[in-house]
Amino acid sequence: MKFKISSSIEAVQFPPITEVHNWLANAPASSLPLIDLCQAVPSWPTAEELTGHLCERLTDPLIARYTPDEGLPEVRMAVSTWLRALYGNGPETSEICLSIGASQAFWLAITTLCQAGDEVIVQSPAYFDHPMALIALGVCPVFTAFNPERAGQPDLAEVEQLITPRTRALLLVTPSNPTGAVIPAATIQRLYELAAAHNIALILDETYHCFLPEDEPPHTLFNNEEWSDHFIQLLSFGKTFALTGYRAGALVASAAFIRQALKVQDSMVVCQPRISQTAIKFGCEHLDDWVARNRKMMNRRHDRFCTEFGDDDNLFTIVASGAFFAWVKHPFNGHNGREVARALVEKARIICLPGEAFGPNLQGYLRLAFGNIDGEQIPEAARRFLEFSL
Ligand SMILES: Cc1ncc(COP(=O)(O)O)c(C=O)c1O
Repeated sequence: MKFKISSSIEAVQFPPITEVHNWLANAPASSLPLIDLCQAVPSWPTAEELTGHLCERLTDPLIARYTPDEGLPEVRMAVSTWLRALYGNGPETSEICLSIGASQAFWLAITTLCQAGDEVIVQSPAYFDHPMALIALGVCPVFTAFNPERAGQPDLAEVEQLITPRTRALLLVTPSNPTGAVIPAATIQRLYELAAAHNIALILDETYHCFLPEDEPPHTLFNNEEWSDHFIQLLSFGKTFALTGYRAGALVASAAFIRQALKVQDSMVVCQPRISQTAIKFGCEHLDDWVARNRKMMNRRHDRFCTEFGDDDNLFTIVASGAFFAWVKHPFNGHNGREVARALVEKARIICLPGEAFGPNLQGYLRLAFGNIDGEQIPEAARRFLEFSL
């Protein structure tokens, strides 16, 4: 390549999951079975009844066609009903746009909200794709500082101090990727009030909301009739219904915001694939019990992970954990997360992500996606960490 490319793209970090997979491809041969704590992918298969339903629908010629940009009305209606049951209240059909995963919902939100030079306040450690997208768009991610004592919970005074005339949004992930921290509903309400007081948007990425430990609504923002004045929600059905490859997500925002976002949707992807919309509708209408069983199983998996990993002799320490992830301090001062994560691939055949992929000053940490591995694999994973040395 001899021509120049965008300097904004050059400034973006290389995708960390691809980087780790490249380490694995180049690692010495090993007889140890791989323990994959890297990319968050539910370890269980898609529900049989869902795949059965899709098989039947594949012969319908319509399945191969575009849908409206925002998605089929009956699918958005099913999502609206499902969200209302989960949150006690929720968006209208006109306030939902189906997207290519939560990832594209984020691009829709940011391209609609921001121009190059604007700022978005990002809770640190941040889900790496968020700052990557912001930087690619010339939008400045303004990171909060990570304070291990807060175990991933936001500090509202700090967030408020970071707001400037260029700030367009506060961005948080709950339950968090990478810390697993669950932001309490009362704090979310205060974040919303802060956003409203400064007339900016609160963007919540709720990709993991179906793995919350409690059977309670994740927050009560939808009870406020004016929620959409300052709230934007990003959803992923990929994790909820174990459909990550279907690229199934949604943007939830005011109808006026969605109308503007459709300009991006149309020019970017046109619509979410109809097969994915078919899967989402089925999931929302038929899989509540299946989702509830997986939630309980994940909560047990989290407990088991904390018990096994928390062995006093293990020098890796859990700083925060929950839902799908543990955020772990590694014991090797003077070595960054990349060095430790790469050595884990080569010596222990474990793949996980280095802390620095999630924002500045996080070289002392690793992210472990324990949600990827079955309960029975957890003791072996914990043993390999305990016996690991650089
Ligand atoms: C916080 C968060 N947001 C968004 C995504 C992407 O979700 P999707 O696969 O629906 O694009 C992920 C995937 O790991 C995630 O962890």
